[in-house]
Amino acid sequence: ALISLRQLLDHAAEHDYGVPAFNVNNLEQMRAIMQAAEATDSPVIVQASAGARKYARPQFLKYLMAAALEQYPDIPVCIHQDHGTEPDICQRSIQLGMSSVMMDGSLMADGKTPASYEYNVDVTRKTVAFAHACGVSVEGEIGCLGSLETGEAGEEDGIGAVGILTMDQMLTTPEEAARFVSDTHVDALAIAIGTSHGAYKFSRKPTGDVLRIDRIKEIHARIPNTHLVMHGSSSVPQEWLKIINEYGGEIPETYGVPLEEIVEGIKHGVRKVNIDTDLRLASTGAVRKFLAENPSEFDPRKFLKASMEAMADICTTRYEAFGAAGMG
Ligand code: G3H
Ligand code: 13P
Ligand code: ZN
Repeated sequence: ALISLRQLLDHAAEHDYGVPAFNVNNLEQMRAIMQAAEATDSPVIVQASAGARKYARPQFLKYLMAAALEQYPDIPVCIHQDHGTEPDICQRSIQLGMSSVMMDGSLMADGKTPASYEYNVDVTRKTVAFAHACGVSVEGEIGCLGSLETGEAGEEDGIGAVGILTMDQMLTTPEEAARFVSDTHVDALAIAIGTSHGAYKFSRKPTGDVLRIDRIKEIHARIPNTHLVMHGSSSVPQEWLKIINEYGGEIPETYGVPLEEIVEGIKHGVRKVNIDTDLRLASTGAVRKFLAENPSEFDPRKFLKASMEAMADICTTRYEAFGAAGMG
């Protein structure tokens, strides 16, 4: 059944767990997420980015999500729009039937230029006004994602500031978080603590100076009733990098957010954990391996099944690690 982000995260807060929010672009991702959720009895957040809308087209996404709800009527599913860059985009997603939207006003409408506090509050407030009138939840963001190692925002073609960010822009302060929530009444708040989108987050296993879990604790202490969201939360599994590179890929050494750090965040108010890259890596690794081992196969269902199973394994591990398993 369709559930709003607010309903789901209120339950998560009450029962001290976090919900992975997986990006969806195609049938295989959607099925992997739902299969893993059914197997572990977990509630689901699926999210569609601007890139997903461009790749799959909005109507295909709409019915893909509707299909998940119909195929699995007993699983609570929140259908969320990831990184809306303008209120108009959020409005269109509500019309498509989504139960939650992210208005990312930390960046201007180009999705690249860091925005002022006033701009962020203005676009987020507008979105909250019409979304709440429709029973739809809103996630906002304060602070810009960026690497504390390099000052870079991460992925070139996705959502993220271009150029070098200052430490001030990259780290959300408890004061601005509290002010933003009281100015906008968002249902969930994405904060910047040193993570970034994509596979290249950290050049070595992250330590406390570049992955600021301590900052989550400070923000949670200040606004204990606000559901916190961690973006850029892929763990970048070393075992999948190895498989990709063993079968012809060329991905340089890189590290993600360790599961145990996310679990620590969940103990301190993180309720939604955004994951896209890990499914991409597992899918690519599984397809490379399958095709290398089965050179005469040409039925895409065969390698897409391998991809689906690899992605479902990632989802299962996350549902279990974050305490969402058994909460569906
Ligand atoms: O926001 C980042 C997500 O990983 C989505 O990326 O726009 O390439 O689909 P995308
Ligand atoms: P990753 O790139 O770490 O998977 O983050 C995804 C994300 O934050 C989507 O909004
Ligand atoms: Zn994100």
